Amino acid sequence: MVGLGPRKPPSRRGSMADVPKDLLDQINRLEELFTVPQEKLKQITDHFVSELTKGLTVEGGSIPMNPTWCMGFPDGYETGTFLALDMGGTNLRVCEINLPEEKGEFDIIQSKYRMPEELKTGTADELWDYVADCLQQFIEYHHEGEELDQLPLGFTFSYPATQEYIDHGVLQRWTKGFDIEGVEGKDVVPPFEAALAERGVPIKLTALVNDTTGTLIASAYTDTDIKIGCIFGTGCNAAYMEDCGSIPKLAHMKLDPNLPMAINCEWGAFDNEHKVLPRTPYDIIIDKESPRPGQQSFEKMIAGLYLGEIFRLVLVDLHGNPDVKIFDGQDIGKLKKAYSLDASFLAQIEEDPFENLSETQDLFANKLSITTSKPELELCRRLAELIGTRAARLSACGVAAICKKKGISSCHVGADGSVFNKYPHFKARGAQALREILDWPKGKKDPIEILPAEDGSGVGAALISALTLKRCKEGQTAGIRDPEAMLSGIKAAEPKKT
Ligand code: BGC
Repeated sequence: MVGLGPRKPPSRRGSMADVPKDLLDQINRLEELFTVPQEKLKQITDHFVSELTKGLTVEGGSIPMNPTWCMGFPDGYETGTFLALDMGGTNLRVCEINLPEEKGEFDIIQSKYRMPEELKTGTADELWDYVADCLQQFIEYHHEGEELDQLPLGFTFSYPATQEYIDHGVLQRWTKGFDIEGVEGKDVVPPFEAALAERGVPIKLTALVNDTTGTLIASAYTDTDIKIGCIFGTGCNAAYMEDCGSIPKLAHMKLDPNLPMAINCEWGAFDNEHKVLPRTPYDIIIDKESPRPGQQSFEKMIAGLYLGEIFRLVLVDLHGNPDVKIFDGQDIGKLKKAYSLDASFLAQIEEDPFENLSETQDLFANKLSITTSKPELELCRRLAELIGTRAARLSACGVAAICKKKGISSCHVGADGSVFNKYPHFKARGAQALREILDWPKGKKDPIEILPAEDGSGVGAALISALTLKRCKEGQTAGIRDPEAMLSGIKAAEPKKT
């Protein structure tokens, strides 16, 4: 067809020429609601800095700022063979990682298992049985017939957990739509180890790791400029290295104030008290209808799990508004189903390369059985851009806040997660927001860059196990509950001679 060349992303306001007044008014209203201007970004960032600090105090704040007992960066020369288990939102991944003697190198073998949807709201026993079965299968497959010592395992458990020790973690609350009874407020390690013991799986848990800490450490293994690890995926969060002297809630442990300690911020909980974030009526509905109302306020505005839902709620609202004609007279039954659209739906809309938005039109027809007019498509495109842009800009506030708190003026940030890796323009929009927040001079290379991370839940978890075993061997046992039992993992971890 003539004239259907690729569109120039992200938005062309000129294309609104044929949009009728009712829709145009709504587009303007949505722009008002979802745009976060520079001044607001700065205000959010400043409040974020004080909340990060507050989270480290004895009294605490809404951001948990959990010490992880990962005490230092790798130097690139870590060695050994480790297992890693990643219990993410969609998949369960088991890896075996070999860290050879060559600096910054690794080999990895892995198997992925689908995480059945029912497990997320099932019972704790079902969860741990499933996880242990997957580990058992992996070991039987890859080590058939071998006499095995205990294999050291780094378990990436990407939920907020307080850690008194590195191989311990009391789940503060489920996030990302998980709602398994009887786990919150308890240490997740004993039931996990019990399920392994029941099956006779030869594993020694050496570290319970958050995905952000894994990302921080894995990225730092290959890039010494890395100072922060972030996840922008189904959930969102960051980790960075603090010094023990700046963590008042650990003062009673009398640790050397200069020792480093990775902090899992759990920044999804930022502004749970609703002081600065510009929440829209749609954000309020998301929160109210979620399994944990009042929690994860920041996350609910920016993470992948919620982006499609925000979009859906706006469209349902507009359809129900008598002053607005959108999808008029059509059955929007499919659109009415909560969480029926995920972030990839928005991503596809933003990626539609055609002037007439024909791919978006097909998407609505195929997925939602809704016929769309050109003006309706224009509204949907603009809405997707607004939601995606807001997510990227608010995310940047968290990164800027950590940098401000730590006095970091230049660094690399290792980032992972489906939104970061797949959502169109997320990186560029985040970088633009950082420039606006931190007022960098124009025309120069950005001093703080958010870059794609190394595999945090595989290599990162292995490295954290390696670092823990190393310091345990050297007698630095802070945060190691039972050094002797921990060292029983060492033999199997010794580097493979090739
Ligand atoms: C969890 C964090 C995690 C983040 C990214 C959040 O919902 O609370 O622990 O790091 O998602 O996966």
